[in-house]
Amino acid sequence: MDARLQRRVQRYGWDRAVDAYASHWHGALAGVQGELLTLAAPAPGEAVLDVACGTGMVSLAAAHAVGPAGRVLGIDLAGAMVQAARARAQELGLVQAAFVRMDAEQLALPDASFDLALCTLGLMYVPDPQAAVRELHRVLRPGGRAVLAVWGERARCGWAPLFGIVDAEVRSEVCPLFFGLGQGEALARCCASAGLQVSVQRRRSDSLDYADAAEACAAAFAGGPVALAWSRFDPAARQRVQARYLEAIAPWCDGGAYRVPAEYLIVAAQRPSTGTAFADAAGAGLPSGTPMQETTVCAIAGGSMS
Ligand SMILES: C[S@@+](CC[C@H](N)C(=O)[O-])C[C@H]1O[C@@H](n2cnc3c(N)ncnc32)[C@H](O)[C@@H]1O
Repeated sequence: MDARLQRRVQRYGWDRAVDAYASHWHGALAGVQGELLTLAAPAPGEAVLDVACGTGMVSLAAAHAVGPAGRVLGIDLAGAMVQAARARAQELGLVQAAFVRMDAEQLALPDASFDLALCTLGLMYVPDPQAAVRELHRVLRPGGRAVLAVWGERARCGWAPLFGIVDAEVRSEVCPLFFGLGQGEALARCCASAGLQVSVQRRRSDSLDYADAAEACAAAFAGGPVALAWSRFDPAARQRVQARYLEAIAPWCDGGAYRVPAEYLIVAAQRPSTGTAFADAAGAGLPSGTPMQETTVCAIAGGSMS
């Protein structure tokens, strides 16, 4: 897909997500967000950048941690997400948190201006994730940390058929690189190619839990990467797409409720304190301090992924 079109699909798809995001995704993502924040350990007084901040769940937690002496900037492509995050920060009186609409690939921010950069489930939507990670490296001070999370291996995400099902109706790919960074060491290599030293690579097994089919479909279609396509489907296409999706996640349906397996990949890295030599973009090898392989199993859903 053309990069400009991909950005438009994401921007306006996520604008539509803003109302449904709290009810369908805040609970589901709390585990991976908590794990990322524990690894990142934002400290009082630090300057933190949260890329693709969405409604600001991670940014606001980081703002609590850095306190009034620190600062947090959340950036996101979708204006409605930025507004929601800003409103929540105001409600909570977190004056150290600010939110701006910005593209992760082109950060309008000075070099070496942050101690910590975070990105939770944002890089899958960016047309050139390598450019976005290079930008993260640029805005981190030498010695600054980055902690990034993406969805994991396609085969371990039971809801993955969603994209193929929607793509079949629009005859294009709505989110072409979605599972690219979650495969093997792809995210760690992307960080290394941008000049970051990777210290942790961790997979987290989790599940997406829905009370019934209506909730599963609302979470999948109401907002996010396929929402723009969904908004243009006629009733027949909607019915077809929903039926196919429910068939795909049927192995994880028990008594009408769903527990669909999901996997996240979390990588922690650092901008070297001295020198910023870029690793071989071909990813021939990770720099010294090759990532530890870790696995955190928080919930294994029933059903087979084969
Ligand atoms: C799954 S949400 C994650 C939001 C948040 N990080 C969280 O953990 O709740 C993905 C976010 O990525 C944003 N996004 C997509 N493409 C982007 C881009 N090129 N630059 C910045 N944000 C982008 C979307 O607007 C959306 O808010």
